[in-house]
Amino acid sequence: MRILIDCDPGVDDAIALLLALASPELEVLAVTTVAGNVPAERTFENGRRVVALAGRPEVPVHRGCEGPLLGPVLRGKYSGEGGLGGSLLPESAAPVAAGHSVDVLIAHLLAAAEAGAPITVCTLGPLTNLAVALAREPGIVRGMDRIVAMAGAFAAGGNRTPSAEFNVLADAHAAEMVLRCGVPVVLAPLDLTFQALATPARVADLRARGGRITSLAADLITFYDRNDPARYGEPGGPLHDPTVIAYLLRPELFGGRPAHVAVELTGQHSFGQTVGDFFGTTGKPHNATVLNRLDAPGFFDLLWERLTRS
Ligand code: RIB
Ligand code: CA
Repeated sequence: MRILIDCDPGVDDAIALLLALASPELEVLAVTTVAGNVPAERTFENGRRVVALAGRPEVPVHRGCEGPLLGPVLRGKYSGEGGLGGSLLPESAAPVAAGHSVDVLIAHLLAAAEAGAPITVCTLGPLTNLAVALAREPGIVRGMDRIVAMAGAFAAGGNRTPSAEFNVLADAHAAEMVLRCGVPVVLAPLDLTFQALATPARVADLRARGGRITSLAADLITFYDRNDPARYGEPGGPLHDPTVIAYLLRPELFGGRPAHVAVELTGQHSFGQTVGDFFGTTGKPHNATVLNRLDAPGFFDLLWERLTRS
C-alpha cells in the first residue's frame, strides 16, 4: 500500500512514523511535515531525525507550511520544547530533500491520478499542506483513494477547547476544505484515540521486549505521558497518531460509523468543532467514516511488535 504521511512531529507523530517505516505492508513515498506541535523548521528537523532513527534514510522528508491559512497560530503543549520530548534524537545524515511539502503532495498525487493508481494520504497534524495543495491543484483528488486523518472530536469533547481537537483547531479552515474535497475521509478523532492509552504496564511491556530503538521509543512515550486519569479513566497518555497507521495495517481492530462531518468556523464558543451528522439530520451526504471503537490490546500488540522489530 503506497502512502504519503503528512505530520507535525510531535512525539506521537514520531511513534506513528516508526510504526509505518517498520511495516513492510506500507510503501511510504514521502513524509511531508507541517507546523503544528512546534514550528515548521522544528517539525521538519524532527521528521528527518525520526526517519533516520527508523533506519530508513532513503525516505524523503519535506518542510511544509509555516502556519494556518487564517487565524491565530496554535502550538502543541505536550511534546516539549523541541517537539520530541526531552529525548534529542541524533541528527540525520541524509541529504535534505528538495521540495516544499505542498509541491511534493501535488507531484505524487498528480502522478497517481495520471497512472490511475490512487494513494492513501495519512495526516497526523494540522491539514494546512493538504488544503493548500487542493487550492492550488484541485485535480489531486483523483490521486487519492482516501484520506486517513487523526483529527476531530465528537462525544469525547475537545483537548484544546471544550469542543475542538488540536489538529482541527490549529487550522479549522484547512480541515473544512479537506472534508469538502470529495475524497473519502476516515477520521481518528479523540473519541477513538483516548482509548489508545500508553499505561505504565503497557510501557513496561514495551521496554521488556528489547530492540534497537525500544528504549528510546519508551522514553519518548513516557515523556509524552499526559496522565489524566480523571479524563481517560486510567493513567497513561493517549497515543493519537499511531492509530492512523494501525488502521491501515489492521482495520479489524477498529470500529466506526459513516457521517457527514463539518467544521464549525463561526462559533464563539465552538470554533474548530467537528460536527458529525450520523443520522441524516442535515440531508447532506456522508463524507467521512468516524472511528470510535478500538481493540486497545490488539493495537498495542501490533505497535510494540513493529517497534521492536529493528
Ligand atoms: O490532538 C492530538 C493531535 O495534536 C496529535 O496529532 C498530536 O501530535 C497533535 O498534533
Ligand atoms: Ca500530530
